Amino acid sequence: MSDPLLELRDVEAGYGETQVLEGVSLDVHAGETVALVGRNGVGKTTTLRSILGAVTPTGGRISYDGEEITAIDPVETVRRGVGIVPEERRVFPGLSVEENLRIGSYGGSDTPNRRSVDEVLDTFENLSRRRESRGVDLSGGEQQMLSIGRALVAGADLLMLDEPTEGLAPLIVERVVDLVEEINDEGITVLLVEQNVAVALELADRVYILDKGTVVYEGTPAELEADERILDRYLGVSV
Ligand SMILES: Nc1ncnc2c1ncn2[C@@H]1O[C@H](COP(=O)(O)OP(=O)(O)OP(=O)(O)O)[C@@H](O)[C@H]1O
Ligand SMILES: [Mg+2]
Repeated sequence: MSDPLLELRDVEAGYGETQVLEGVSLDVHAGETVALVGRNGVGKTTTLRSILGAVTPTGGRISYDGEEITAIDPVETVRRGVGIVPEERRVFPGLSVEENLRIGSYGGSDTPNRRSVDEVLDTFENLSRRRESRGVDLSGGEQQMLSIGRALVAGADLLMLDEPTEGLAPLIVERVVDLVEEINDEGITVLLVEQNVAVALELADRVYILDKGTVVYEGTPAELEADERILDRYLGVSV
């Protein structure tokens, strides 16, 4: 197999005195959708923040596209083509849909995967219909779509999504799943953090389970689905 697009080796990170990641190693290859799952508080978001550079690892190594990015800042990480759709969505409540998307065009990355505001509005009909609406007036699903759309405007070759389906109604979850699939089909590599194990299994080519700051399992969705012991032990679910 070719070299991974993103590689984490023994990454340690935390907040002040609190160590959260105790040596996380994982690979994401170009074109893949990789899911990172695990119970609350095990360090999923901290892993994404470490990759982005919002948290600086205290140990280990992160490389992207063949270059070490362990200690670079978020602006530089994004410039190199790593996008993030954060857990909190961060839609600006007082700005319109169009203005929220335009925010993505400041800075960002000049990858060919970069989309214009109009291209995103063309693809996301539900946003296009609400182009003048303010962020505060959008539903949870619309805010999630807007947050994903903004990351596409910023430009990403690797898009990291932190629990994109959290708190959404089942019908809207399916829309987000379809959207992530489309994004991946168009050539964007995806690293997905999900609490919804069914969604992770549906979308991912490979799944990593994180527990207490380390990777405790790696496999395909089919392998994981067949392993009730692992599902129960680390995720507390049966599928
Ligand atoms: N800014 C912060 N300062 C201090 N501790 C933090 C901070 N952010 C997270 N933590 C702690 O780090 C640990 C891991 O948090 P993290 O957000 O990475 O977990 P997670 O797997 O994403 O959980 P969730 O499923 O709840 O989103 C938790 O114990 C959390 O309380
Ligand atoms: Mg989290």
